[in-house]
Amino acid sequence: MSDTTGERTLRISVAGATGRIGSALLSALAGDDVEIVALSRDQSAERLPRGITPTVVDFEQASTLRKAVEGTDKLFLVHGTYGRQVQNEIALIDAAVDAGVSHIVKVSVMGPPLALHPFDWHTEIEAHLSRRDVGYTLLRPSTFVDILKSRAAFVSQGTWGGAAGDGRVNLIDTRDVADVARAVLLDRTDPGAQRAYHLTGPGALSMVDIAAELSRLLDEEITYHHRTPGEQRQVLLNTGVSEMIADLQLGLDRLFRLSIQAETTSTVFELTGHPPRSAIEWLKENLSAFKRV
Ligand SMILES: NC(=O)c1ccc[n+]([C@@H]2O[C@H](COP(=O)([O-])OP(=O)(O)OC[C@H]3O[C@@H](n4cnc5c(N)ncnc54)[C@H](OP(=O)(O)O)[C@@H]3O)[C@@H](O)[C@H]2O)c1
Repeated sequence: MSDTTGERTLRISVAGATGRIGSALLSALAGDDVEIVALSRDQSAERLPRGITPTVVDFEQASTLRKAVEGTDKLFLVHGTYGRQVQNEIALIDAAVDAGVSHIVKVSVMGPPLALHPFDWHTEIEAHLSRRDVGYTLLRPSTFVDILKSRAAFVSQGTWGGAAGDGRVNLIDTRDVADVARAVLLDRTDPGAQRAYHLTGPGALSMVDIAAELSRLLDEEITYHHRTPGEQRQVLLNTGVSEMIADLQLGLDRLFRLSIQAETTSTVFELTGHPPRSAIEWLKENLSAFKRV
C-alpha cells in the first residue's frame, strides 16, 4: 500500500495503546494514512477506539512480542509504572530490533538520572536502547497534569496536601506528549537518528499556585496543607495505597519541592506547531472533579 505521495503507508506498532498517552496517540493519528498495530495484554477491544482490534501480547512470551512488531516500520513504546517495567520494555525493544523495526519512540521521563522510581527504571531502559543498533527518539516529559485528578477527592474534602513545599513543576498535558509522538512517528527523515526531547507545559507552578487557581475557579478557599515527607507517607498509607505507590507519590513531592522539573522547553511548539496546553486549561476542563459534593 502507498499514500498519495507514492510512499509506502507507515505501519506503526503502538504499545500501551489502551493507556493515557497511547489512547491520545491513537486519536491523534486517526486522520493519518498509517496502519496501526495496537498492542495490549487484553484481548477485549473495549479500551481501544472503535475499529481497532488489539494485537495481544504477553511480556513473558517473547514470541508474542516478536509477532506483534513483525513487519512494522516504527514502534511507539510506553508502559505503565509497574514492577516489571524494565524487563517488559527491554523485551519489547529487543523483539523490535530483532524484527527489523527501524525506529523506536520511547516515553521516558524528564530530569537527571535519580535513584528514584521510575527515573532509575528509565535510565536503565534508555541505556539498553542506546546499546542496540536502531534509530530512536526518547520523549522525556515532565510530570503529567492529570496526576492532579488523584488529588481531586482530597481537594473536595479539604485535606489536600503534601511535601512539595513551595517548589515548582512545569506540568504537561498527556495530549501534548501524544501530539509530539505523532509528529515524530510520521517523520520519515533519518529513521536511524537517535534523539532525546524534553517536553514541558508552558510554565511552572507550585502546588500553592494551583490551590490559588482552584480557589479562583471554584470561588472558594482551597488550601494545600504543607506536610513533612513522613507525615505525607502516613496520610497516603492510611488511604490504603501500597508502599510502592506511596513512595512514588513521595518521590513526586521531592521532585516538586526541589523544582527539578521547573524549566520550560519550546519542544512541544517546535514539533507540533501548537503551544503546549496549560495546567490552568486542564483544571478548567476537569473542574467538576474538584467540586465539593
Ligand atoms: N505520570 C507522570 O507524571 C509521568 C511523567 C513522565 C513520564 N511518565 C512515564 O509515562 C509512562 C506511563 O504512561 P501512561 O500514563 O500513558 O501509561 P499507563 O496509562 O499507566 O499504562 C500504559 C499501558 O501499560 C499497560 N500496563 C498496565 N499494567 C501493566 C503491567 N503490570 N504490565 C505490563 N503492562 C501494563 C496497559 O496496557 P494493557 O492493559 O492494554 O496491556 C496500559 O494501558 C511511564 O513510563 C512513566 O514513567 C509518567
